[in-house]
Amino acid sequence: MVKITVCIGSSCHIKGSRQVVEVLQNRIAEKQVGDRVELSGTFCMGQCQQGVCVKIGEEFFSVSPDTAEKFFDEEVMSRV
Ligand code: FES
Repeated sequence: MVKITVCIGSSCHIKGSRQVVEVLQNRIAEKQVGDRVELSGTFCMGQCQQGVCVKIGEEFFSVSPDTAEKFFDEEVMSRV
């Protein structure tokens, strides 16, 4: 099970965390990996400097609505 955690803290929210979640949800559906990927939200992870903070397991990534699809295909699909 790949655990993806998206920050929904205020700084990441302003940068589009909601859209990032939507892109990831769509991608999970399109790739039919809903049984292998767990998507959840979390409050500020103290990494506000960059884009929307997303974690896969314990690894941090900086994602934006524009890069979320690429992020999913490269970083998530390689782990499922
Ligand atoms: S609000 Fe997302 S890391 Fe701080």
